[in-house]
Amino acid sequence: MTGTAWAGDTVLAAATPVVVPDTLAQRLQPCTACHGAEGRASREGYLPRIAGKPAAYLHQQLLNFRDGRRSNATMAELLAHQSDAYLRETAGHFASLDLPHNAPPAAPANPALMARGQTLALQGDAARRIPACVECHGQALAGTLPAVPGLLGLPRDYLIGQLGAWQTGSRRAIAPDCMAQIARRLAPEDASAVAAWLSARPVPPGHRAGPPPPGPAPLPCGSVSVPRP
Ligand code: HEC
Ligand code: HEC
Repeated sequence: MTGTAWAGDTVLAAATPVVVPDTLAQRLQPCTACHGAEGRASREGYLPRIAGKPAAYLHQQLLNFRDGRRSNATMAELLAHQSDAYLRETAGHFASLDLPHNAPPAAPANPALMARGQTLALQGDAARRIPACVECHGQALAGTLPAVPGLLGLPRDYLIGQLGAWQTGSRRAIAPDCMAQIARRLAPEDASAVAAWLSARPVPPGHRAGPPPPGPAPLPCGSVSVPRP
């Protein structure tokens, strides 16, 4: 029999199905082409990490792309026909991933820019009525539940892009849109300063969104206080 193929081999091969498990992780594989393996994009370039962000935040963003409150043609196209329930499941999948972050890229060699960025993040700017980022994003900037995302571990260009999108109105959150107000109060250099400082921070292990901060928020944010239908 050596060397001679037995006709039954072909039949057997044809009859053995290739088993592709139909899990959510497998169905969301296309997302990782851009967002990195398991949704943990690199810290450089533009693409945001999605792994480990609060589920309610991710769900709202998927709805925002689908319904035109954020503009990105690929994201909108991918999500066009997805139901709210499927998007909630998608958000839950990426939110549940707890994976380490890469080391940050080198900080820009501009001490004045970095100092201004740190001041905005940790203290804000009372003269411009800009609250400190930590007041809503948490003292560790890891995000706060249910729907405020963390600000560390994201590429600098992505952060600048988002603040710019809020300034021009191409990114909108549920009203009242506190981030649009904050972005518009920033001085011209401020977005790049805070993005430079944030993107150069290391992300410690176990960095996850914490409980909501005590007391009222410095500005009302609809995406946090208004439950989605
Ligand atoms: C072709 C590349 C590409 C693919 C594929 C892709 N995305 Fe995106 N995604 C992007 C880009 C670019 C952005 C940032 C857009 C912007 O500037 O607002 C983004 C943003 C997001 C955000 C917002 C992140 C945040 O922190 O606010 C989420 C959530 C997201 N994508 C989820 C997904 C999911 C889920 C899939 C698979 C169904 C997917 N993406 C597939 C390119 C992609
Ligand atoms: C009053 C509360 C509040 C303060 C203060 C605040 N944020 Fe936010 N931020 C939010 C909320 C709520 C969201 C989620 C908005 C949404 O649903 O799209 C957000 C989202 C963001 C995002 C989008 C992250 C992503 O993954 O796409 C960036 C960037 C951001 N904030 C930067 C800042 C910076 C920089 C500061 C300080 C100068 C700041 N925020 C201060 C409430 C706040």
